Amino acid sequence: MRYHLSSNYCIIIFTGVVKIKGIVIYRSKSGFTRKYAVIIAESLKYDLVEQREINMNRLREFDNIIYGAGLYAIGINGLSFITKKLTQLQGKNIAVFACGATPARKEDIENIKSSNFRHGELEKINFFYMRGGFDYKKLTLVDKFLMSLLKIKLKAKKDLKGDALGMLNAYSHPLDFTSEKNALPIIDHFRELEAANA
Ligand SMILES: Cc1cc2nc3c(=O)[nH]c(=O)nc-3n(C[C@H](O)[C@H](O)[C@H](O)COP(=O)(O)O)c2cc1C
Repeated sequence: MRYHLSSNYCIIIFTGVVKIKGIVIYRSKSGFTRKYAVIIAESLKYDLVEQREINMNRLREFDNIIYGAGLYAIGINGLSFITKKLTQLQGKNIAVFACGATPARKEDIENIKSSNFRHGELEKINFFYMRGGFDYKKLTLVDKFLMSLLKIKLKAKKDLKGDALGMLNAYSHPLDFTSEKNALPIIDHFRELEAANA
């Protein structure tokens, strides 16, 4: 920044590039979403914060906003934190990523989108899905109870195979599918936005 003093006026001329400010906000019950949030924030050099620690006043400071959370009974945990603020956040680049145990299959991703977003919301939000994992020991008591009901259902099924069998095994052997590679599409999306604004 250069200052030019001329008679009574002080004219400030900005000569540097104005840095785009970005933030990754996450909500994570057993740590999988947090892993992705850390990878994304470190790659893009964005701030990183848990959803419960941020309010609208601070959110307004950022140009690029990423919200990530786990998938619970197909719902993206705490998604309304972002969708309720879409009007106030107009003009900002917003992305949401969901982190579930389900593999990243096209039809499942479409199902997550249609179950979580209302008409028009996906025109303002870029959505990404990243496969997380499953760790029964890290669940809350309520989630343990819900998952034990699913376990009973799974056990009652004959000829268990594929995802259902994998899920049943995961109760005793935690699964972790998180990888830096899975986070690349969202990282590249924001790098492209920044390059376009440079
Ligand atoms: C009660 C319960 C419901 C879940 N429902 C889904 C689901 O609908 N789809 C899915 O892909 N994963 C589901 N999962 C798995 C979580 O989404 C997965 O463990 C995720 O990685 C958790 O992320 P987090 O630890 O960051 O919250 C469920 C897990 C629990 C405990």
